[in-house]
Amino acid sequence: MVQAEPRSHEMINLYHVDKVYPPNQTALRDIDVRINRGEFVFIAGASGAGKSTLLKLLFAEERATRGQVVVGGRNLVSISRPQIAELRRSVGVIFQDYKLLETRTVLENVAFALEVIGVRKRERFQLAFKMLSAVGLKERIHALPPTLSGGEQQRVSIARALVNRPQLILADEPTGNLDPDMTIAVFNLLLEACRCGATVIVASHNLSLIEELNKRTLVLDRGRIIGDFEHPNG
Ligand SMILES: Nc1ncnc2c1ncn2[C@@H]1O[C@H](COP(=O)(O)OP(=O)(O)O)[C@@H](O)[C@H]1O
Ligand SMILES: [Mg+2]
Repeated sequence: MVQAEPRSHEMINLYHVDKVYPPNQTALRDIDVRINRGEFVFIAGASGAGKSTLLKLLFAEERATRGQVVVGGRNLVSISRPQIAELRRSVGVIFQDYKLLETRTVLENVAFALEVIGVRKRERFQLAFKMLSAVGLKERIHALPPTLSGGEQQRVSIARALVNRPQLILADEPTGNLDPDMTIAVFNLLLEACRCGATVIVASHNLSLIEELNKRTLVLDRGRIIGDFEHPNG
């Protein structure tokens, strides 16, 4: 049994993890990874390599079939439902498919992330507005998500994930729908969060971006880690 110390410098510990989707679709095989608090890590790999599945294991959206998954000292293999809820409130997740509340405005979607952690109404809307301004959506705060472009919806989901300053940020292809300028703006936000102490894990198949940022990169191929490069550009 792997059990991290509560105050450990370690944020993530995956120990011999397999994930098999029923009935027999193997998505991850024998994954062994440790990520420290404050690290910025890319997960690279072709479509179908297992990037999204790996992120889903880290906030207990999916359960490992074998092995141990320890996040911030919690072992997700034996975690209870209330503990899962607590874990999710402490993790900022940028989903590949956004998962916005379609009948709530942009501002409400972002403020909601603060409501669940008990921030008072006035402050919720102030913080949400500030975060939406940072992703260039000041003019769209009263719009409903279905009326936005894909790139705008993506930026709402980014603002929602970052607004409560989580210690762990998981981002699944966060800039897949964004133009180059907005991609840079979003990565600057993620890098800033990391400088402030957050652990940031980004799944991406944007190789030029990965190369440019020169951060630790885990390379997945058909469910296996085939490379773990500290500084890919040396
Ligand atoms: N819910 C699911 N049920 C069955 N197979 C799945 C499911 N989600 C993903 N897979 C399969 O697992 C593998 C990895 O998928 P995924 O983690 O989405 O990869 P990536 O994000 O790198 O494109 C793929 O073969 C995919 O078809
Ligand atoms: Mg994916």
